[in-house]
Amino acid sequence: MARPFRRYSAGARWYDLLSGERWVYRAGRVAGIGLMDLRAGDVVLDLGCGTGLNFPLLHAAVGDRGRIVGVDRSTDMLAVARERVRREGWTNVTLIEADAAELDVEDVRARVAEATGRGRAGAVDAVLSTYVLSVMRGGAADAWRRAVTLVRPGGVLAVVDMQPPTGRWRILAPLAHLACALGGADIHARTWRFVARDAAPGSVREVTVRGGHIVAAVGRLPGEDVPATRS
Ligand SMILES: C[S@@+](CC[C@H](N)C(=O)[O-])C[C@H]1O[C@@H](n2cnc3c(N)ncnc32)[C@H](O)[C@@H]1O
Repeated sequence: MARPFRRYSAGARWYDLLSGERWVYRAGRVAGIGLMDLRAGDVVLDLGCGTGLNFPLLHAAVGDRGRIVGVDRSTDMLAVARERVRREGWTNVTLIEADAAELDVEDVRARVAEATGRGRAGAVDAVLSTYVLSVMRGGAADAWRRAVTLVRPGGVLAVVDMQPPTGRWRILAPLAHLACALGGADIHARTWRFVARDAAPGSVREVTVRGGHIVAAVGRLPGEDVPATRS
């Protein structure tokens, strides 16, 4: 039997308060989700959804007809996410406890198909991962590969993650290193490179916020319905 994943257990209840969300990290999710151009009715996979801090923005974008599928390995982070969903009265969120690096994509396909009535082929319209792949270290590539197999042709790929601040904000590098070390993240992982690698050429947009500390990269899988990149 797999060992329970406890890294986020003790802090789960306090995560939203102590993670620097308000002053630093919310800006990254706002930037990333803004670039995704989600439409009402879309199905979005939030890989490593944690306590569901992306859910309000995602729900506003996809509406009641859309669906959010949150995957996370931590029982305790998911408990906070579940409470958020209950509190908001959302009925279109599916939460799955799983190691993303070993995600059973057929199971996710089946669950999405059951919840949405869609065919099983292109299960989701978009995948988003915020501040997760850099904590997964060796498992990040596998997690991303599995998630991408669930996205329909022309669907959206989005990663928001961290790096040391740049330019004049380099003065804050020690703080950024400390925050990443406390969260178990590799600040040098540059995980948004997965988007550029897998997205259709020319579809990728990248923005940095908070002094370059946060990078949001969004692109579209090759296939039908790849709109031109906005300038
Ligand atoms: C820094 S938190 C980010 C949470 C959320 N995405 C956010 O933006 O606030 C990292 C999350 O990744 C999850 N995680 C870490 N390794 C994982 C894995 N192998 N599979 C699924 N989730 C994982 C943790 O449980 C935690 O909820």
